[in-house]
Amino acid sequence: MDAAEAYYKELGCRTERRKDGFTKGVGDSVRVEDPLGFPYEFFYEVEHVERLTQRYDLYSAGELVRLDHFNQVTPDVPRGRKYLEDLGFRVSEDIQDSDGVTYAAWMHRKQTVHDTALTGGNGPRMHHVAFATHEKHNIIQICDKMGALRISDRIERGPGRHGVSNAFYLYILDPDGHRVEIYTQDYYTGDPDNPTITWDVHDNQRRDWWGNPVVPSWYTEASLVLDLDGNPQPVVVREEKSEMAVTVGADGFSYTRKEEDGHTGEKTGFKLGAQL
Ligand SMILES: [Fe+2]
Repeated sequence: MDAAEAYYKELGCRTERRKDGFTKGVGDSVRVEDPLGFPYEFFYEVEHVERLTQRYDLYSAGELVRLDHFNQVTPDVPRGRKYLEDLGFRVSEDIQDSDGVTYAAWMHRKQTVHDTALTGGNGPRMHHVAFATHEKHNIIQICDKMGALRISDRIERGPGRHGVSNAFYLYILDPDGHRVEIYTQDYYTGDPDNPTITWDVHDNQRRDWWGNPVVPSWYTEASLVLDLDGNPQPVVVREEKSEMAVTVGADGFSYTRKEEDGHTGEKTGFKLGAQL
């Protein structure tokens, strides 16, 4: 806690320390407004509660089993990436273009694809929080249940499989409009030389492995975040190109298959169609 407090003070960030914790069951804690404008809380001691891993008697078919990751919107992804790398995070995957613009990066400390992802856009804003299920079928059950409850309008995107992360996913909106992802079956990243996978922003399969288009709201909507006084942080506009403008924009320049000479897109599709 001392090191965390000193680290953020050194970075010029606002911090607040409470030796008896901010939250019931949590001990000595420090809250910070980090360099990207997000509120974080670090703690060391917690009261442990009953572990529910094998309480199958309590489970429903769409049971969530743990918190997997966050996704944060920030205007300058390389700056955010450097800040998180300095905290010991590694980059599993990212999205770039041939001009060197980085649109998103997936960063991990635990040995999965990410603990947090940085998405380029107006920020700081929270894009989503993601909870894991054991299997794909748990996610399908959640969709069926939302249909039965007549709240299918709260399903924003999916279900589907991501290109980035390979995870099976679903995005839903909670009653306050905050986005929640249900996520399962990404892969192990514990090898210390695990190479970063870079996706071309024009690759139609990067966000959805089956090539389904991303709904515009997924790119534009996100939740405001609060400072340590509980007031919304001002949002800074992203100056670089946005991913939605590139991939859904008028240039129409995107591809599913890439030919060896660099030509892309529909032409290849026609050839394949003729063969079939
Ligand atoms: Fe996610």
